[in-house]
Amino acid sequence: MKHLLKLGDLSKEEILDLLGLADQLKFERRNNIPHPLLAGKTLGMIFQKSSTRTRVSFEAGMYQLGGNALFLSSRDLQIGRGEPVQDTARVLSRYLDAIMIRTYAQSEVEDLARYGTIPIINGLTDYAHPCQVLADLQTIREYKGTLQGRKLAFIGDGNNMANSLIVGCIKTGMSVAVGCPKGYTPDADIVRWARENGDVLITDDIFEAAKDADAVYTDVWASMGMEEEADRRRRDFAGFQVNSRLMAVARPDAIVLHCLPAHRGEEITDEILEKYAASIFDEAENRLHAQKAVLVRLMNG
Ligand code: CP
Ligand code: NVA
Repeated sequence: MKHLLKLGDLSKEEILDLLGLADQLKFERRNNIPHPLLAGKTLGMIFQKSSTRTRVSFEAGMYQLGGNALFLSSRDLQIGRGEPVQDTARVLSRYLDAIMIRTYAQSEVEDLARYGTIPIINGLTDYAHPCQVLADLQTIREYKGTLQGRKLAFIGDGNNMANSLIVGCIKTGMSVAVGCPKGYTPDADIVRWARENGDVLITDDIFEAAKDADAVYTDVWASMGMEEEADRRRRDFAGFQVNSRLMAVARPDAIVLHCLPAHRGEEITDEILEKYAASIFDEAENRLHAQKAVLVRLMNG
């Protein structure tokens, strides 16, 4: 593994290796066992969009691994004034040991990898959110024991989360159902790939999607960068909500996951978010452990 640009680039074995290392790093942190595996290394973190979890978990994670992290807001970088990504990549490659970037176009992340000479990590694009899904898979495995044969239902927008969840689930032997309004389906190439490689259902019937699910997942109706579509989306997504009626058709022991931030009363009710807070905040915690595993595998030789 040279970069983490999208989960589709990883093999099943690479994903399971990251999850195993994430579990080990979590155990060590829980037991105050130091693991300075990246002493002297520096991660640059470029943010063109807001973040709480990604920024803090990467920054704290690098510190816990004995290294350093630099928060680079695109507002302050020359990239925000139009310096091309191919120049930025070549310059930053000379100072840093890896770059995490959160931006809009997936092509920008791919360009950084093409022109830079250090590992690039996708910290969310409009297309994919691979770091989140590694934490999600770690969480599902913690609660369910195995991934193989489990079913995940995603309710909501066929966005970056849906795209990456489909790939992560299919690669690890899970089945996945997406309940989304017509016109908001996940990336067509990803759906085609998933159909050829596993069990995927795309439907506008959320009850069909959630039926017998082991994990029910949702995300905001309007992602970052879509703020001006929020009113239209509120109308188009009405009813595409994780609530107690929907959870009644999932498996009785199903967990609920949400990448957060959540909009209570839109994609999820306050009642369900609080009822399933254990799995949702374990999921948020696992961002730290899963990303530390990514950092170690990419930066440690
Ligand atoms: N889930 C997630 O990526 O959260 P942030 O936007 O806070 O980083
Ligand atoms: N789909 C959301 C995920 C946030 C973590 C967004 O892109 O804003």
